[in-house]
Amino acid sequence: MQILVFGKDGQLGKAFKGLFDSLTFLQKVEVQYVGRGQCDLANSAALTEFLDQSNADLIINASAYTAVDKAETEADLAFAVNARAPEIMAQYTAKHGATFLHYSTDYVFDGEKYGFYLEDDVRNPLSVYGKSKAAGEDAVARVFVNSIAGQYAIFRTSWVYGDGGNFIRTILRLAKEREELKIIADQYGVPTSADWLAKVSLHLALNPQGELNAFPSGTYHAVPDGETTWHGLAICAARVALEMGMGLKAHPDAIKAIQAVEYPVSAPRPMNSRMSTDKLQSVLAASNSYNDLVKGQGFPHWEIMVREYVQKLAAAGLA
Ligand SMILES: NC(=O)c1ccc[n+]([C@@H]2O[C@H](COP(=O)([O-])OP(=O)(O)OC[C@H]3O[C@@H](n4cnc5c(N)ncnc54)[C@H](OP(=O)(O)O)[C@@H]3O)[C@@H](O)[C@H]2O)c1
Repeated sequence: MQILVFGKDGQLGKAFKGLFDSLTFLQKVEVQYVGRGQCDLANSAALTEFLDQSNADLIINASAYTAVDKAETEADLAFAVNARAPEIMAQYTAKHGATFLHYSTDYVFDGEKYGFYLEDDVRNPLSVYGKSKAAGEDAVARVFVNSIAGQYAIFRTSWVYGDGGNFIRTILRLAKEREELKIIADQYGVPTSADWLAKVSLHLALNPQGELNAFPSGTYHAVPDGETTWHGLAICAARVALEMGMGLKAHPDAIKAIQAVEYPVSAPRPMNSRMSTDKLQSVLAASNSYNDLVKGQGFPHWEIMVREYVQKLAAAGLA
């Protein structure tokens, strides 16, 4: 089996690399990691040619234009990478009867819903980034409407952290430098570990023999259990960092809650990013997955994974 992972230098791309390296049962599998140097995803002709020269059975698109505020002034680039590129990957997948795993975002919603978003809820992105990701979702789905070959999953996720720049690392860095932090406490969502997201994705796609599973094509919300705010996440990260002996100037009680309106940014964010994962959990429970980690246990709580992440950062002297 040939696997292509786009976005090799991003948080999720690196998580897939770590995961595949650990899956020793995956024999006869060749994984190719693709970064900007191998293929510029903003160049549709280059991407089409790259795919035509591949023999991929599984395409994992962990790449994206993720600079949410910058996208407000770089719409063409954001749409090229977040909408046109996944469309081309989907076309290859449908043409060759392959499998496509793609990622989207809570930012396709406007956050006005009370409660947890379902996969089919009306989208109303507030930002250029959100619009480009929503256009990517539409483009992928459209390719498969009239196709009898191939399958796809779009995992909508939120607040991703892994090996790379992210909110948790920014907070820990600032807490080392400053006596007090002011963090938004009225935007709700779920922090998601890139490692966990990669694992969940492969649970859907691979069977116990390491072969491709058949699964219902469509969109799946993929976030851990629970919910918090940016402020709640910052407090949690700082608390664990202190327990680990990290020298912080700003202790949790010096992390003050503010409202989003007090922290203006170019791209508006949804106030509510909570997404129900019932659909993914029930499909995984019924699937012939490569192991039973997810089965029957529900998804783990975000706080458990953030604790582990901060502990690892502290132990490695990072952040
Ligand atoms: N991060 C979040 O909080 C978050 C939240 C919700 C959803 N998501 C979604 O989750 C997925 C993974 O996100 P992530 O956090 O892993 O993103 P990330 O760390 O920003 O990585 C994105 C990768 O895409 C690559 N890329 C961007 N433009 C490219 C281009 N023109 N050609 C080739 N490669 C290009 C980047 O390459 P370079 O390294 O060379 O720049 C980078 O390695 C994305 O679909 C994202 O939209 C993320």
